[in-house]
Amino acid sequence: MPIVRFLTAGESHGKALVGIVDGIPSGFFLSADDIDQDLKRRQGGYGRGGRMKIEADRGEIISGVRWGKTLGSPISLQIVNKDWDNWQQGMSGYETDALSIPSVVKPRPGHADLAGAVKYNTKDIRDILERSSARETAMRVALGAVAKKILSEFDIVIGSYVCRIGSARYNKPVPSLEKQLLALFRLAEKSPVRCPDNVATRKMVACINRAIRNNHSLGGLFVVFATGLPMGLGSHVQWDRKLDGQLAQAIMSIQAIKGVEIGSGFAMASQPGSEVMDEIYYRKSSDPEIMPFVRKTNHAGGIEGGMANGMPVTLTAAMKPIPTLRKPLASVDIVTKRPLAAAYERSDVCAVPAAAVVGEAMVALTIVNAFLEKFGGDSREEILRNYNSYRAYIRKY
Ligand SMILES: Cc1cc2nc3c(=O)[nH]c(=O)nc-3n(C[C@H](O)[C@H](O)[C@H](O)COP(=O)(O)O)c2cc1C
Repeated sequence: MPIVRFLTAGESHGKALVGIVDGIPSGFFLSADDIDQDLKRRQGGYGRGGRMKIEADRGEIISGVRWGKTLGSPISLQIVNKDWDNWQQGMSGYETDALSIPSVVKPRPGHADLAGAVKYNTKDIRDILERSSARETAMRVALGAVAKKILSEFDIVIGSYVCRIGSARYNKPVPSLEKQLLALFRLAEKSPVRCPDNVATRKMVACINRAIRNNHSLGGLFVVFATGLPMGLGSHVQWDRKLDGQLAQAIMSIQAIKGVEIGSGFAMASQPGSEVMDEIYYRKSSDPEIMPFVRKTNHAGGIEGGMANGMPVTLTAAMKPIPTLRKPLASVDIVTKRPLAAAYERSDVCAVPAAAVVGEAMVALTIVNAFLEKFGGDSREEILRNYNSYRAYIRKY
């Protein structure tokens, strides 16, 4: 069983999203502001639809925190849906409100609509789409912000940037070094599409504008990285303890993500081994912050044998285009079985910048689990002791 477990609940137009993260030790500072900053980052990005103009997501801490510090008990959060005002009957839990809005019967290709309706035996696709919607990712981001806050106490930073939207690219390879990654992250934070390069940003915005004009939608690629990880998170000894496997699952679980690459991933498949293994060097330093084993390259994306190797963890994720289309594709009425055009419901045209923020959250939740598995304890102080003694051990190894 993982040390850190989390669950989300809530429908897209329901009253609220709720989430629980269990396994966070006591004594860590946590405020609603820590959560809201990331919620705001997820809501932004050029190409989002009308829903994001309605919502102004705020994370409310319901339990597990007292006077600004974690208690060690489950932390539960709530994000109220402002749009609930318009859906109180349509999404009501009471039988007396049934049939207050028409059923959705036109499944959208690329969505959970058809398989979900058949599997859960419903003739109203709203029963499915409300939960399959990526609105759920707001709560993942809130829970991820809790994980990031814990990791920040150990100088672990998790960030992201967008490197492709449709045909517009930022083509530079993912850098190997912490400093370079952090610099790209700072630049990306200023871009409307979360891309570190101005020219590429302009091309991406133009690409989205073209898609809006032509009633298309777009996907893309984004990079998520984690710096400051101590060597040895994860393990080689069992398939489900491998950090790269856990990260891939976490990222693939995000709506519309269809590919994940750790480090130089796919490119390595066509290169000779001598060019893509990261050579090992030893550098003794009087600075206790500098760990002795170093690499000049990072094709491995900071993970070897399922374990963090001390270099930044880097991964690239591929997001498919948004499936809800203004110019809808062919579908079939699930009641009459007649051919018709798929349903259109207010939708994003491109959500790659937002998905990158969700990616950060999933990476943070995965890494905080691996971190607490390695340095486990019930309180911040206990974990700090374990962490510091491990670092001292590595320096003398
Ligand atoms: C941040 C984010 C926002 C999204 N916004 C939309 C949207 O507005 N409309 C839509 O049809 N799909 C949107 N998606 C994608 C769908 O949720 C996703 O394609 C769908 O649930 C089917 O799941 P699958 O693509 O993983 O198979 C979004 C995904 C993410 C990560």
